[in-house]
Amino acid sequence: MADQLRFDNQVVVVTGAGGGLGKAYATFFASRGASVVVNDLGGSFKGEGGDSKAADVVVNEIKAAGGKAVANYDSVENGDRIIDTAIKAFGRIDVLINNAGILRDISFKNMKDLDWDLVMKVHVKGSYKCARAAWPYFRKQKYGRVINTASAAGLFGNFGQANYSAAKLAMVGFTETLAKEGAKYNIICNVIAPVAASRMTETVMPPDLLALMKPEWVVPLVAVLVHKNNTSESGAIFEVGGGHVAKLRWERSGGLLLKCDSSYTPGAVLKKWDRVTDFSDPQYPSGPNDFITLLEDSQKLGPSEQGDKVDFTGRVALVT
Ligand code: NAI
Repeated sequence: MADQLRFDNQVVVVTGAGGGLGKAYATFFASRGASVVVNDLGGSFKGEGGDSKAADVVVNEIKAAGGKAVANYDSVENGDRIIDTAIKAFGRIDVLINNAGILRDISFKNMKDLDWDLVMKVHVKGSYKCARAAWPYFRKQKYGRVINTASAAGLFGNFGQANYSAAKLAMVGFTETLAKEGAKYNIICNVIAPVAASRMTETVMPPDLLALMKPEWVVPLVAVLVHKNNTSESGAIFEVGGGHVAKLRWERSGGLLLKCDSSYTPGAVLKKWDRVTDFSDPQYPSGPNDFITLLEDSQKLGPSEQGDKVDFTGRVALVT
C-alpha cells in the first residue's frame, strides 16, 4: 500500500467515463482514494443521442466497491456544468481528464460539415470548455493536473479521419500552451495518444489485436502524469497502449539558412533541398522563440554561405 500512487482527498473529473478508456480511469482513481466525477453524455460513438445510464453504471460500480463518485450527464461542450458538479459534490477539482470523444469517419471527398463540426465540438471545444472552467480553481489553489487526449490519427494522419485528425492534433497545441501558461501555478498538462480496445476500435480491429489493448493498460501512464509527484513532466506527448509507453517530440532537420537578399530564390532552396530534409543533425524545438535565433543567424550569413545563386526560371526540373 505504502508505495502505491494514491489520490486520497483529490477530486478527479473524467469526461466520457461511461465506457472504454474513461471508465478505466474513473474506476482506477476511485480505487486509489480519489472522489470522481463520472461524466458521460451516453450517446452513440458517432455523437448521436444521450442516455444517463452510461455514467450511472460506472458510478454504481465505484460505489459498490466502496469508492466515491457522482455522475454528470452533460456534453463536454458544457464543461462548466461538469466542473460545477465536482465543486458542488466534493468542493474542489484537482485533476481533469479530457477523454470524451466521438468518431465521424468518412473519406474527405464525402465529408459533410456536420461530420467536421461535431468532431470539433466534442474534442476541441469540449476539452477547451472543461479546462477553461477548471482553470480558475487550479490557479487559485496553485495545483492542477490535466490530461488531454490526442490520437495517432492526429499525429500522423489516417485515411477517413480528416476531421478527427485535425481535432486530435489540436489537442497537442492546446496542451503545449496550457503547460506553458500553467507552469507558474503548478498546473501540469500532458497529452496522450492512446490505443485501446473500446467500442471505437472494436469494429476496425481484429479480436486478437483488441485482446492486446485493454483500456486498463493506458491507465498507469495517466496516473503517473497526474500524480502530485509529477512536478516536471508537462507539455509532453505520449503514445500509450498494450504495454507500450513512449514520449514523442518535435524534430527539426538541421535545415538550410539562406541570406534574404536577391539570391534567395526558389531555385536556391531547391538546390540545397537535401539540407532541408537532412535529419542527421536534428534540433528539438520547444517553443516559437527558437525560431527567432534562426532568423537572426540567417541575417548574419555572408554571400559565400548562401545557397548557390540559381536563377529560378519557373520549372523545377530546370534547376541544376
Ligand atoms: P469510447 O467510445 O468507448 O468512449 C468515449 C466516451 O465519450 C463514450 O462513453 C461517450 O459516450 C463519451 N462522449 C462522447 N461524446 C461526449 C460528449 N459530448 N460529452 C460527454 N461524453 C461524451 O471510446 P474510447 O476508445 O474509450 O475513447 C476515449 C478517448 O480516447 C477518445 O477521445 C478517443 O478519441 C481517444 N482515442 C482512443 C483510441 C483507442 O484506440 N480506443 C485511439 C486514439 C484516441
